[in-house]
Amino acid sequence: MGLKKTTRIIEVVPEKFSMLQLSEAVKLLREGKVVAFPTETVYGLGANALDESAVKKIYVAKGRPSDNPSIVHVCSEEQLNEVVRGVPPKAHVLIKKFWPGPLTIVLKKSKKISSAATGGLDTVAVRMPSHKVALALIKEYGFPIVAPSANSSGNPSPTTADHVYADLFGRIPLIIDGGKCEVGLESTVISFVSAEGKDLAVPILFRPGKVSVEEIEEVIGKIIVPSSAANAKHIEKPLSPGMKYKHYSPKAEVIVILPGKDFVKKVFEIGAGKDIGVLSFTKRVDVDREFFFGGNVESYAKALFEAFRVFDNKGVELIIAEGVSEKGLGLALMDRLKRASSKII
Ligand code: TXA
Ligand code: MG
Repeated sequence: MGLKKTTRIIEVVPEKFSMLQLSEAVKLLREGKVVAFPTETVYGLGANALDESAVKKIYVAKGRPSDNPSIVHVCSEEQLNEVVRGVPPKAHVLIKKFWPGPLTIVLKKSKKISSAATGGLDTVAVRMPSHKVALALIKEYGFPIVAPSANSSGNPSPTTADHVYADLFGRIPLIIDGGKCEVGLESTVISFVSAEGKDLAVPILFRPGKVSVEEIEEVIGKIIVPSSAANAKHIEKPLSPGMKYKHYSPKAEVIVILPGKDFVKKVFEIGAGKDIGVLSFTKRVDVDREFFFGGNVESYAKALFEAFRVFDNKGVELIIAEGVSEKGLGLALMDRLKRASSKII
């Protein structure tokens, strides 16, 4: 009989953990293994970004297509300079303003980074997370950590250690449990390199996130926001490889009702006779399976992926979600909702 594969969970409190609690994770990383850890956005599944065989283990555990590049997490500008070839002035401004935090920057990659981490591309996506546990882990380990979201490929990103456990039990040795992720949606991704490898004077938004277009434009001026970003699953030649894959999808069908419609009325029309789950933003519908966010976009974003998982576990067949205005964090929230949906009304 073979050894039974298990996944251990180590609980840490972000405000008062000790480095000793991270020692097992650091040991595993040093052995070329993978570890799931919390960030302020979603949980990541990490490995040494410079070690090809370690990186490949992430792709196997997640069932992630090998041409989908992952984000490299660093803890200092020194480490950033090791993984990229040059930082353009505007990128530097963004780094000064938003790091550590939920902003990922795509730059030309250095030779050090395993090409398994970048899906064979000549560019690399880098971010410095603000979560204390993530930062401490990278610092203590001493190498940049490549980490996609710690879900199995195609599922919504995990925002709690339980979500990681549900998806990857037996496939990874360790999860560091740092509680619920503060933001709940993945980082903003912005690129300074064109698909042909040329420097871009005006950077392009690849994925909206917590750091909003408005906040970015306030410090570096206009950026390109592809109008298709929110409908990226429909574009044929995606700007960012990850965009061609269906993401964030619960098993249930998702229908988004755009703001300005009578949401409550629509729910009763569309949901009649079905086992539904409701995500209401402005007004409570008053059905059994409902998350109500009282007009708070931050709470909606934080709970979205968890709500998808809760509804799936209850066997909901249709999720009806109230849309929000695509301003600030609303752009990221609508991007994830639209990608998960089969219909937008
Ligand atoms: O918040 C986050 O970004 C989380 C946490 C763990 O940091 N990570 C995350 O990683 O969401 P992942 O791998 O699930 O999403 C990375 C996205 C994908 O859409 C991928 O295609 C894109 O970034 N990406 C990564 N490297 C890229 C590159 N070199 N060029 C273009 N897009 C890239
Ligand atoms: Mg992901």
